[in-house]
This record gives sequence, structure tokens and C-alpha cells, in this order.
Amino acid sequence: MRVARFDRAFLGPLLAGAFAFATQALAAESVFTTLPLATVDTAPLLVSADMRDGVDLSGEWNWSIDPYRSGIAGFHGEAPNRTEQRWLDIDVRKTLAQDNRELFEFDLDHDRKVKLPGSWLAASPEMRHYQGLVWYRRHFDSPAGRKGRYFLRFGASNYATVVFVNGQPVGRHEGGFTPFAFDVTRLLRNGDNQITIGVDSAATAATVPPPVTDWENYGGVTRDVKLVHTSDTYVDSAWVRLTPEGKIAVDAHLDGPAAANQPVQLKVAGLPFDLKGRTDAQGNWRATATAPRALMRWTPENPKLYDVTLAAGDDTWRDRVGFRTIERKGADILLNGKPVFLRGISMHEEEIAANPARVITPDNARALLAEIKNGLHGNFVRLSHYPHSEVMTRTADEMGLLVWSEVPVYWMVAWSNPSTLATARNMLAENILRDRNRASVVIWSVANETPVSDARNAFLRTLIGDVRRLDPSRLVSAALLVERDKVAAVPTMTMADPLADDLDIVSINTYNGWYTPDRLADLPSSVWNLPADKPLIFSEFGADAKAGFHSPDGMQKFSEEFQAEFYRKTLEMADRVPTLRGISPWILKDFRSPRRQNPDFQMGWNRKGLISETGQRKQAFSVLAEYFARKAGEPSK
Ligand code: GCU
Repeated sequence: MRVARFDRAFLGPLLAGAFAFATQALAAESVFTTLPLATVDTAPLLVSADMRDGVDLSGEWNWSIDPYRSGIAGFHGEAPNRTEQRWLDIDVRKTLAQDNRELFEFDLDHDRKVKLPGSWLAASPEMRHYQGLVWYRRHFDSPAGRKGRYFLRFGASNYATVVFVNGQPVGRHEGGFTPFAFDVTRLLRNGDNQITIGVDSAATAATVPPPVTDWENYGGVTRDVKLVHTSDTYVDSAWVRLTPEGKIAVDAHLDGPAAANQPVQLKVAGLPFDLKGRTDAQGNWRATATAPRALMRWTPENPKLYDVTLAAGDDTWRDRVGFRTIERKGADILLNGKPVFLRGISMHEEEIAANPARVITPDNARALLAEIKNGLHGNFVRLSHYPHSEVMTRTADEMGLLVWSEVPVYWMVAWSNPSTLATARNMLAENILRDRNRASVVIWSVANETPVSDARNAFLRTLIGDVRRLDPSRLVSAALLVERDKVAAVPTMTMADPLADDLDIVSINTYNGWYTPDRLADLPSSVWNLPADKPLIFSEFGADAKAGFHSPDGMQKFSEEFQAEFYRKTLEMADRVPTLRGISPWILKDFRSPRRQNPDFQMGWNRKGLISETGQRKQAFSVLAEYFARKAGEPSK
């Protein structure tokens, strides 16, 4: 039933032999290799699935750990036998009671309970540092008189996930930060249904990100799970935006028996806009029409969103869309044709809490983004280093914050491993296809702090090419490092990364004065040798401070005073760089990182936040807020 999609073709051949996550550890018969892999090429996209009817499957699930992956492969690597098959559609306790020839070394239906979404790291004390495989199960009643199609959709599950429904294999997915879905229409039965999933958070040399990062690896189902309902033929993806020529453009793809030659109609509520058309033989529709004069463009100051509908046969696709353009002109970033300065900060996907579980509810998202918008007078947020929840990007749309969105190609990735490249390409495509309708998202980033090499350059150029193909309407960047002149009297940095030529925006992470012995007083006299015709974003700079630790005289590191002075001097330095068009210092909130173990100040937290993990503002918070208030008042260059 599946028909080709115009944005689908380019990944296929590369993905065929890919995704080596579990295979590295397990034999070919393992569950992680035999189930069909969900990719943008093989699986439903269900763009703006959160706006579709369906059953929210969040809430209480049963769970059980499987540290030696017995449910994935037997002790000689063979397929697991019945006694280990966690997904079996039987009542284990009853079966064991009835037949002593049977044996099951698990019983998910009678195991511990936990609320999903949320990482298992916060589920119970002994799980705090667990990295590996966990099985989850829940039951749900299938809607009676079922018509149309039913999709099991996950907002995200970290890292590799296998899915079973009513004891039947459904599929698997790799990547911890992007959505995936399966058509389970044929597997549903009247009355009680059960879903069993295995989630493995372990990172390997082949995964994206690799094992060593500077953030906590929150294993588990970290975003919503939903049974999405559609008609037999439905709009699987639609992309609606404003073009630089002032036209509203739409690209849509229908899936189902009536996808071809189907009349379609795009409407924008509140505007005299009614665009009709017909899909082609592949179920694709592409059209543009002049935007009505009354259209209000989306800006951070006026984040106007419109209810957009696309009617196709029995199906109506919905989304809330802001219309704006983003471009680069020389060293300027133009929002709706006007130069804009990005007053931002970086942020991890971690709610304000003493014991976070990576649960981003609308309230949690709003609390974080309000610190930027209202607290810091910011208009920009770098969502690092992986795609954050769609709750976050929708909230940025509503609150009026520009967004940098990134895939976790971070530090040391296996550049020459074709399956790692395939994983990264799919993750990037899943991210772009999910958030192409988000007005807030203006920059796609393909990497962070990656060492220059031919293999790395080729890897990242492939990703850049994918962005340009999937979404030529936004800017592309990556957080790069610079070369430091070892003898110069003042800090002298040069952009020598060849990848800068391929990017729209030169973005640099700099930690002079924190990871270097530079005196803070010397920072303003720094020299930056950078391309003159490209906008610069300082995508990271920062210093740790333990909230409440003060050393007014000594300016000791980890004190609030040191962090505040670090900001003053670095901002003074930044303001002297002529091509500077934005900053996103590291970082809004202290966040969990296993790399940070200083007992006096860190205890597993990176303390570069301007607020503590519980939201306590540090002195540097007001240093940046004053700088942004001044910037907001200034006419952009
Ligand atoms: C790096 C990196 C971050 C890290 C930060 C730090 O630049 O991109 O992920 O947390 O520096 O050292 O605090």
C-alpha cells in the first residue's frame, strides 16, 4: 500500500544494511536485528501526530530490567527461547500455576510499576546509574467497532527500542531523541490488548551519540506514547511555510488506498486562504499561492500562530503554524527580511528539579523558556545537543523564541562506520520532518565540537546535503572549535575548520578563561580571525558556579562572583567581533553529567548553569539579562 514520497528516496539504499547498535554485541538472530527497522524511509511519519485523535498511552506501565539481555538473545547468542520471551501474550503467573512443565524467568504483568514517559534513572534509587535493557508492558482496551488505521507512536525512546503487540513482533527503532511509529491496525483485537517494549540505553562506538558525552544518558521512554487513529487514507506528512517570495507553499504526502489523484484543500483559519489541488499518482501534492495581505508574520515579539488544515478525502490534517522567513545575507541573519541579533542561551532537555527524569510537560517547557524570554530578555534558545521534545518546540512557537535544533553528532563519532552515518542521517531526517512546521526553528545544526578529519568532513557534508535537500528554507550550522595561536601576547583564535565554508552560520564554542589559564581581564583584547562574510554565533561559552558559593575577594573558580565576571569579560569580548550576530552561552540550568565529580561543587552536575538544578538564579544571570536588555533596545546592525 505504501507509495513513494518525494522526500523519501534519498536515504533508502544507504539504510538497507545499517544500524549496527545491538548487532555489535549480539548474534544475528537477536531480536534487535530480526525486527523491521523504523526509518523515515520505511515507517509512517505521522507529522503533527500530537494534533491527531488517538489514545494517550502515557501513565502506569510495568517494567523489569534485563541486564544480560536474556530477552534479546540466548546464552550462545541464539534467539531467546520461550522462557525468556518477555513479549509473550500469556499470563505467566496463571500458566506456571497450571503447568509445571512450563518455565518463565520473567512476569511483566506482575512486576513493578512506573509512570511513563520518564527516564528509569529516576524510577528507583538502584536505577540511578543503570545503563542497559529494560522491558515495559501495559494493557489497553482497543476501541470497539474499529475503522481506519491505528499507529503506535513514540515521541522518543532512548536509545534502541523493540516493540511487540499482543505477542506479535512489530518493529524496532534506533536513536533516543526522535519520533517513530508503526502501523498496528492488523494486530489489534477487541477488548484487552498488550504492548511490550524493550528499551536499551547502552551506547556503543557505533551509536549517535557515542558513549562519552557531557550529559546524563537518560534511558527509557522519555516522551509520549500514543495510539494514533486515522482514516484508511490519511495525510502522513505536510509542510506548510511562507517563502521569501511571499507565497504560502505546501508539500504533502498521503498514504493509503485512495492516496493517488485525491482532491485536497489547504485552509488557514482567520485568513482568506483556500488552496485546492489534487495529489499525483504517488499521493504527493505540492503547491504555492500568494499569501493574503492580512497575514501576520511570526516574530519573537509577536508569535502569531494560525490553525492550518489540510483536507484529503476522509482525513483532515491539522497544525498550528507561524509564517516567517529566515535567511542569511552576508554577515547578517534576516528574520522576515530584517537583521536580527540572536539573544540566546543553550539548554539541555532536563526539567527544573532536584531529581530530573527528562520529563518535558508543557508546564516544564514553559518554566524553562520563561527564564530565557522573561528572565534573560532572550529571543533565542540553542536546544543542545539532540532534538528536544516537540512540546519544547511548540512552546517556543507559542512563546516567541527562535530555536537552534541539533542532532547528537558529538565529539568522537565513528566517522568511517557506514551504519553510524546511516543512523545520523535518519535521526536528522526524523528531526527535520517532525519540526519543519515550527516557525521557532530557524537553524539546523549537524554537529558539536567534532575533530577535523577527512572522514569527519565527508560525514558532516553528507548531513549538510541532507538538510539542504529536506529543508532549504532554514539555515545550517554546527558548533565548531577554533585554533589558538600558542605564542600571541593576547588570546588569538582562527577559524581553520574547512566545514565553515559549507555552513550558513559560523558557530564557535569558546571557553577561554575557564578551560584555559587566561586572566578574565585579558579576554576583551582577544583577536578572532573569522570569515568576514558570514554571521558569527558564539554557540557556547561559560564557567561553573555552585549556587550560593561566594568568594568576593579571591574570585575562586566555582564561585558566583567568578562566573559573573567571566560573563562580563566574555560579553565585552564578543561585542568587539564585527560579525557577531548571536550568542547562546553554556548554559541556562545546571545539568546532570557523569563527567563532573568535584565533591565540593559538582557531585555529578555540570554547574555552568545560570540557574541551579532547582531554579535558583546565580549572579551571572543578571549580567546576561542586562546585556540582553541593552541589546534588545539597540537597533540590530
Ligand atoms: C562543551 C560541550 C558541552 C559541555 C561543555 C562543558 O563545549 O559542547 O556539551 O557540557 O563544553 O564543558 O561544560
